[in-house]
Amino acid sequence: MNTDNSRKIYEKAKKSIPGGVNSPVRAFQSVDKEYPIFIQSGNGSKLYDEDGNEYVDMIGSWGPMILGHNYPKVMEVVRRELENGTSFGLPTKKEVKLAELVKSCFPSIEKLRLTTSGTEAAMASVRVARAFTGKNKIIKFEGCYHGHSDSLLVKAGSGLLTFAHQDSNGITEGVVKDTITLPFGDFEKLKEILENDNDIACVIIEPIPANMGIIETEKEYLEKVREITKEKNVVLIFDEVISGFRVSLSGAQKVFGIIPDLTVLGKIIGGGYPVGGFGGKKEIMDLISPVGNVYHAGTLSGNPISVAAGIETISILKENPEIYENVNKKTENLVNKINELIKKYDVPASVNHFRSLFTIFFSKEKVKTLEDAMNTNDEFYSIYFDTMLENGMIVPPSKYEAHFISYVHNDEDVEKLLKGVEKTFQKIAEKLR
Ligand SMILES: Cc1ncc(COP(=O)(O)O)c(C=O)c1O
Repeated sequence: MNTDNSRKIYEKAKKSIPGGVNSPVRAFQSVDKEYPIFIQSGNGSKLYDEDGNEYVDMIGSWGPMILGHNYPKVMEVVRRELENGTSFGLPTKKEVKLAELVKSCFPSIEKLRLTTSGTEAAMASVRVARAFTGKNKIIKFEGCYHGHSDSLLVKAGSGLLTFAHQDSNGITEGVVKDTITLPFGDFEKLKEILENDNDIACVIIEPIPANMGIIETEKEYLEKVREITKEKNVVLIFDEVISGFRVSLSGAQKVFGIIPDLTVLGKIIGGGYPVGGFGGKKEIMDLISPVGNVYHAGTLSGNPISVAAGIETISILKENPEIYENVNKKTENLVNKINELIKKYDVPASVNHFRSLFTIFFSKEKVKTLEDAMNTNDEFYSIYFDTMLENGMIVPPSKYEAHFISYVHNDEDVEKLLKGVEKTFQKIAEKLR
């Protein structure tokens, strides 16, 4: 496959952009590639690079593209909206519609604020939780990622893990001191802290961790987290930036039957355009300026293009529940077939899977914790990435991310993925012989 143009663009990019990319995982460094693929366009389930190569896209912009790229109805609305102007710095009627639509899907959300990214939404949710409780510290879980605001970057997942950093430089000791990180899934540790420290404002959690690869959460664990946070007057924040509108129309909270105090959203609610949102109980959300004195703002918050794309995407998902059946079933079949191939080639691999999200881990044992994920085989993951790329597929360029299946992935795409997986396993089996 000729990717010379991508290589040339990367050489230029490095001179003007740190690492040549605007978000670290895009650099393909952790899968031992010298340069990333530069994308020229996307359509449906496919991406096209600057050399004219076609790829089946298994990333879906890391979650938003549940309907695939350029879904005609979403495109039509966006085109129409562009004619009306793209940013006013004043409110629009559509923002109210999107808020009402989100509320209709998430009963735990009584009031909602929009932002331009998931990062801002998570950051603001923590701030309002501190104001509500009058307490300072926050608890987050190792390997969960909530964007790149200072207090949430301590022992975070996603790009940080990919580059083997536990924390980011440039964060003050005070911020680190106020962020307590605990292992995901270990309720006793959480209980111990909450019983002994009265200064905890909130617990923020990805109900289905997707930034250390997919971790299959146990319902009872989340139930206990809910119970103890309620008992201790600690705000429970579900970060559903990935799981919201993905694992169900009403996110993971519906799947597990748990009502958080605040929910962070992003990705799908903007239909592929820049967005984030956070919302929850009225008494918490009404602390936000101009009603209360917790400051949250944004020039492009509730941007009309993102809002229009979000309304259309959510409306399509709401009116067509078969979309969820389709993506879930497709993923389940795919995962079953990958598991058969693991057995056939007897390779040290396993798959974690939740609805339309899955991660192939190169370890024989099931991955249940961040530590398990870190101990999976890097070399085999790079072989997987490379083999898939050679065979016209873009899978996550990091072993700590999820594959995202969309409504428009067709049988041919699935077959192609399985063929690539089989070739990967053949290579690994050969290596192990
Ligand atoms: C669970 C979770 N929360 C927050 C974020 C941050 O969102 P954004 O990249 O839009 O800032 C992400 C990004 O991937 C995420 O996966």
